[in-house]
Amino acid sequence: MKSILITGGAGFIGSNLVRMLAEGSAYNVIVLDALTYAGNLENIQDLVDGSRVRFEHGSINDRGLIDRLLAETSFDAILHLAAESHVDRSIASAAPFIETNVVGTLTLLEAAKHAAVRRFVHVSTDEVYGMLGPTDPAFTEETPLAPNSPYSASKAASDLLVRAFVHTHGMDAVITRCSNNYGPYQFPEKLIPLMTLNAIENRSLPIYGDGLQVRDWLHVEDHCRGIMLAYERGMTGQVYNFGGFGEEKNIVVATSILQHVGKDESLLTYVADRPGHDRRYAINPRKVQQELGWTPEWNFKDGLRTTIDWYRANSAWCQNVRSGEYRSYYQRQYEQRG
Ligand code: NAD
Ligand code: TYD
Repeated sequence: MKSILITGGAGFIGSNLVRMLAEGSAYNVIVLDALTYAGNLENIQDLVDGSRVRFEHGSINDRGLIDRLLAETSFDAILHLAAESHVDRSIASAAPFIETNVVGTLTLLEAAKHAAVRRFVHVSTDEVYGMLGPTDPAFTEETPLAPNSPYSASKAASDLLVRAFVHTHGMDAVITRCSNNYGPYQFPEKLIPLMTLNAIENRSLPIYGDGLQVRDWLHVEDHCRGIMLAYERGMTGQVYNFGGFGEEKNIVVATSILQHVGKDESLLTYVADRPGHDRRYAINPRKVQQELGWTPEWNFKDGLRTTIDWYRANSAWCQNVRSGEYRSYYQRQYEQRG
């Protein structure tokens, strides 16, 4: 059975990917995650307890740890999702983004090269392309990189390191870039889970600026299928863009959430805009449709309702995340056992 190392596997997209792979039986899955504020072991605890997945607590910046993991197991691939991922945090403080997204990715690339891991899949973002005007054509893989936030600049830097390792060292790597993901287990600092939990709790929904910014929404299950297709069928050195055909204005997303939860629009609160706020993202996924046979299965309307229902049905998970209780979860589960 092929072994795969998933970095960031306790985060939002990583945990959905780990769950998808654990539900099949094709891969031996090992997760490496530092459990930052965004990492939550509860997301995959049942899989770890059931021995479907092995969990290693540690950082992609820890070369000694990575060398040990890569020496213990012959990995067919590293699926690299670990990152600092929130734009607002990168505006408040960019240094952790450079440390994890740039230096951490470089550390992982060097270790993967040294251990001759067969394939490296680098999960990136459409935000590296910068922003679009209302009528601009959607991003393609040929769109020049023009990142606008410290977050997207750090992701673009890591993408370029991956490209350089392919070109210079002959590394077998592919890069995926996707639009905004939504679905279960997303940390409620991002738009959809934040608005959903606030609506449920009768708190105000903060709309940045005029609320007319546009994002393309991709269900996390569709994205995870895309990552696996890029790993299994992608050509080395290639970039693959995944989009959900789900462009929507933020104000429409927030209003839809209020309607589905049955709350009044008076909860909408316009607040100061995000500095440097990108106006619009959109992806043209023609390449992955033609070359990988991928297409999104979720439409945004159904996906949003199903996602809101997941947060309503998983109130214990939401409460633990909101209260910070999940932060002590790892300590209780593992460290106290010695
Ligand atoms: P997330 O913030 O939910 O999870 C990130 C995970 O990485 C967490 O579990 C965290 O503990 C872990 N991590 C952070 N620093 C680490 C380190 N030094 N070593 C090991 N683990 C570390 O992020 P996400 O939304 O799941 O995003 C996953 C990847 O997808 C990221 O690379 C992100 O840039 C990319 N992406 C996300 C979106 C989105 O909409 N969420 C869109 C495009 C691209
Ligand atoms: P976010 O989920 O942070 O993703 P990204 O910035 O990576 O696209 O934000 C999505 C959009 O929602 C973005 O245009 C910013 C906006 N937004 C708000 O209006 N209010 C909020 O409280 C948040 C978190 C985001």
